[in-house]
Amino acid sequence: AEPLRIALAGLGTVGAGVIKLLEANGTLIEKRAGRPIQITAVSARDRSKDRGVDLSSYAWEDDMTVMAARDDVDLVVELVGGSDGPALTLARNALRAGKSLVTANKAMIAHHGLSLAEEAESRGLSLKFEAAVAGGIPVVKGLREGAAANEIDRIYGILNGTCNYVLSTMEDTGRDFGDVLKEAQDLGYAEADPEFDIEGVDAAHKLAILSAIAYGARVDFDAIDKSGITRIRAADIAEASSLGYVIRLIGMADTDRAADGPLRLFQRVQPYLVPLDHPLAAVDGPTNAVVLEGNFVGRLLFQGAGAGDGPTASAVMADIIDIARGEESAAFSVPVGQLEHMAPAESGHR
Ligand code: NAP
Ligand code: HSE
Repeated sequence: AEPLRIALAGLGTVGAGVIKLLEANGTLIEKRAGRPIQITAVSARDRSKDRGVDLSSYAWEDDMTVMAARDDVDLVVELVGGSDGPALTLARNALRAGKSLVTANKAMIAHHGLSLAEEAESRGLSLKFEAAVAGGIPVVKGLREGAAANEIDRIYGILNGTCNYVLSTMEDTGRDFGDVLKEAQDLGYAEADPEFDIEGVDAAHKLAILSAIAYGARVDFDAIDKSGITRIRAADIAEASSLGYVIRLIGMADTDRAADGPLRLFQRVQPYLVPLDHPLAAVDGPTNAVVLEGNFVGRLLFQGAGAGDGPTASAVMADIIDIARGEESAAFSVPVGQLEHMAPAESGHR
């Protein structure tokens, strides 16, 4: 069978992880995809950096934004990051060149996902971003496919591995916030700018994407009420513990379905006190956990590694395999009725 030829932009934690995964599991991936998956071209900022992978059989492009135009590329995989800049230019160039796009970039999808999806769908191409939400957990597939027949009443959970690592490690060891955050960065969990993690912005990006899939909502990022974990101190964690709680950064999209009015959507990211006997209280380290409440399926809990090279590469490769198999699906769902974003002050939030 004809190989699927890939341009891989970004060779950091996730990009190098994709190469390692393909090297280790190439044979089974080929069998499941029904054709070989071949990386033909790669790009990053610094050509001389040792990334722990052998790049000698791939063409190097200094300017990643032109990779999509190569004749030996069928699919572009963007693992650079940033809502705009080279990642967005590459994404748009890929779709205009008639190439489908796989990305792990939640900032870009949260801000430009709908316009990229329109561009992709108008050309019969795929835009896939499983890795953008909750790392290795197949929550995008779970929501889009598994819960497709349901009205989703509520989505909530732990959506940022770095914050969860920081909070749960501080809880277990009493160590200092800055010290544990540095460790999360060294382990490859944090964003290039970790403020995105600790200020709740990264979790809000992911929540906005889940809402767009669940409700056909135009992402209104500014309507998300967000606060992060920067003000939490070891003393707060100890106090919560003495009262029978842990502190977790939780993203929540809640809805209000008035009989004949629009569906009202309220989205918030903030630290919550979680009772020790709640399933989210036991979620430690860089693990994420997402709860979906559907009107027929009931409550679904998705849990697993939300950050790190192996899990995230696994989600990227799952999207690549879908494309190799010719499995197309719309990036977001169509709105099934009128929808209003609720500002925090308006919500009778449960
Ligand atoms: P990373 O380790 O910082 O890697 C980013 C890569 O992009 C590096 O190879 C870097 O080149 C390259 N790059 C950055 N800016 C560039 C520029 N202006 N021009 C050319 N190349 C540039 O980041 P990562 O953790 O792999 O994350 C990549 C994407 O995956 C991001 O969108 C992130 O949000 C998303 N993601 C990450 C995780 C995770 O656990 N890390 C999980 C899910 C999703 P150099 O290496 O040469 O500097
Ligand atoms: N920085 C993100 C996190 C990476 O810590 O969850 C995974 O999206």
